[in-house]
Amino acid sequence: MTTRRQFLTTTGSTLAAGALHAAAAEEKQAPLRFGLMADCQYMDAEPRGNKFYRESPRKLGEAIETMNRSRVEFSFHLGDWIDRDFASFDVLDPIAARHESKLYHALGNHDFSVARELKEKVPARLGMEKNYYSFNHGGCRFIVIDTTELSLYSSLPPNKMFLAAKVELEMITAPGGPAEHADQRIRYSSRPADGQIAWIENELAATEKAGEFAIILGHHPVLPDNALSLWRPALFETLFQKHQCAKAYISGHNHSGAYVESNGFHYLTLDGILPSELENAYAIAELYSDRLEIKGTGRQPSHSLIFR
Ligand SMILES: [Fe+2]
Repeated sequence: MTTRRQFLTTTGSTLAAGALHAAAAEEKQAPLRFGLMADCQYMDAEPRGNKFYRESPRKLGEAIETMNRSRVEFSFHLGDWIDRDFASFDVLDPIAARHESKLYHALGNHDFSVARELKEKVPARLGMEKNYYSFNHGGCRFIVIDTTELSLYSSLPPNKMFLAAKVELEMITAPGGPAEHADQRIRYSSRPADGQIAWIENELAATEKAGEFAIILGHHPVLPDNALSLWRPALFETLFQKHQCAKAYISGHNHSGAYVESNGFHYLTLDGILPSELENAYAIAELYSDRLEIKGTGRQPSHSLIFR
């Protein structure tokens, strides 16, 4: 005869074994694997400081070979693909073509360091149908944002984004604002405009409703809040925090990389491909239901991003 205590013990251990089994089964199941790169920033120029521009195509090629060997479902390059010359795209084209799956781009500030009349051709030249977009894969919504939208470099006057950026800067650089960062923020920083913020909000609400989770990607970091982050980082911190389905924001721009966790949400800034003559920086990400494993190569550290 089975006593109640024996029944509970047996049932409990059966359930525990079942849960362990399920976890083990998920671990055995191949995770969704994707590549992460940022700041290739190629141009045909002599090195400046630790920026070895002519080494970038080689390093990009190496990263892409690793992505192919790892059989990634797709990869992201998170902005600053080129620097200073529209012809720089031509050098990277044959290397990018070696990527055997889809290579997604986010727009970066240096991608617009081209002749004035060519600025509006940049997204199409990167093969982008839209400047910001999302797609679903494996129960996860990948939301790629355009942090260059409201800026003094991605468009020219009288474009309304340029004019709105001027107004925004007056606010940022007003007394009490982060004046010590003003110069760098004016030249290199920016943010998604209000219409795009509403779009991000809708994307996150839809993700929540579908019972899925979201990873957001873009060029400029949100945190840590410093000269290299996008304009008005608190706005985006609040937005990501508000939606439990949002798990991480992955960016580039700061070539030294960074990692900040805030209330269980992860801010990962990738180390850039550009700095260092020899050493590369890129990562393969593995997506599980409870975490994102970042497996770094070269200067890129590895991280285990446990979902809240
Ligand atoms: Fe940048």
